[in-house]
Amino acid sequence: RRREKNIASTVTNRLPQKMLDLLNVAGELGNKLGWEIYAVGGFVRDILLGRPNLDLDLVVEGDGIFFAKELVKKLGGRVKAHNKFKTAVVILENGQRVDVATARLEYYEYPAALPTVELSSIKMDLYRRDFTVNALALRLNPDRFGQLVDFFGAERDIRNKTIRVLHSLSFVEDPTRILRAIRFERRFDFQIGGQTMRLVKNALNLKLFSKLSGTRVMHELQLIVSEEDPLACLNRMQELGIMEAIHPLLKLHKERIQVLIELAKVHNWYKLLYLEQSVEPWKLYFLGMTMGIKNTQIKQVTDRFHFTQREEREFLQLREMIHEALIQLMSWREGKSKLSRLYSILHPLPVEGVLFLMGKSRKEHIRRNISQYLARLRDMEIEITGNDLHELGIEPGPIYSTILEKIMAAKIDGQVETKKDELDMAQECYARESAKEDKADES
Ligand code: CTP
Repeated sequence: RRREKNIASTVTNRLPQKMLDLLNVAGELGNKLGWEIYAVGGFVRDILLGRPNLDLDLVVEGDGIFFAKELVKKLGGRVKAHNKFKTAVVILENGQRVDVATARLEYYEYPAALPTVELSSIKMDLYRRDFTVNALALRLNPDRFGQLVDFFGAERDIRNKTIRVLHSLSFVEDPTRILRAIRFERRFDFQIGGQTMRLVKNALNLKLFSKLSGTRVMHELQLIVSEEDPLACLNRMQELGIMEAIHPLLKLHKERIQVLIELAKVHNWYKLLYLEQSVEPWKLYFLGMTMGIKNTQIKQVTDRFHFTQREEREFLQLREMIHEALIQLMSWREGKSKLSRLYSILHPLPVEGVLFLMGKSRKEHIRRNISQYLARLRDMEIEITGNDLHELGIEPGPIYSTILEKIMAAKIDGQVETKKDELDMAQECYARESAKEDKADES
């Protein structure tokens, strides 16, 4: 039985004024056109959870594309329409994005001789969704603004912190929902419900994952590692044996989980210290998830995920570079080896590679030195540029980078400090390099 409840005051309290204005305009436009307008999905869920979410999804019981165009006439911005799906994306002038969908009145045919029933279109729209907590709608028309449309007990499930599917074929229709269930469960600290859990296990027994497209699985994994606490999700996936269901080589065995734990720590540490320099979590965690897979087998995994040739090449290259760096790091000795050598080992790597090495290494001094590299060396710059070399009368060529790299190394090792030191060194370097060349020419 459907529960009717008005949460207008909660909505008003929990959303910024700009968003409220937008909801009101959408509701009024709905009235003018004679259509019911609803906010749906994660947006409504997050209002009830008290978590800010500005991704607005609207459903129109009418013509969604027409509605989107009218909305833009009122508010400015642009519309991208997908006629095939009767959906539109609105980008308002202030950058706010609104997804608009059309709910059609649908006739639902029961199998064999039972009567065909007509369902209210918003109900049908919600019924197609993944979990009850995402199957809520909020009426926006002014007369009933804030009315919660809850056909499936979503509000109760949110209160009880339960993730529940709407019907028993949900995971058969779309097995990626299993990964979504885990993601929502860990994000909100919910529990997958008993019956839903049986359906998850059933889907795994039916090997539904093995047939799932690599692109879709990868997209879901990317979302998982972009969560606040990816490790919680990965642990749950390990419990359920999901990675090996995707591909046997991906089994989250003990050593991998151990490294992933360390990667999560390093990732958090980095996020805390260098907010503004972002890491692509997927690159970092995927290195951990594929750790220990031999070069001769790694292609099976990149093929499973439908990597493009370029993605595959870049990933294999990164693995190779990390391998090289690891060997070099083994012989680097704190206090004995030069800091500039540490710099030249780590500098060619993208930040994800550096963090991976830091997480993977069991040696405390290596971790410490990598963190020193990130904190002090990575962004160090010298003062002179190619222009200065030109002014010194040095002929442009590859020698420029040789000289600049040498000066950089000297600066890292504390051998030059001022710009004058750098210029002097540039001249010395040039003299030495030319002497070398002359010698080579003579012989
Ligand atoms: N959905 C679904 N099955 C999927 C993906 C999405 O039923 N495999 C539905 C969900 O009901 C969801 C809506 O489509 O509410 C929009 O999807 P998305 O934007 O991914 O979900 P949100 O719930 O907004 O999740 P997030 O907070 O992670 O953005």
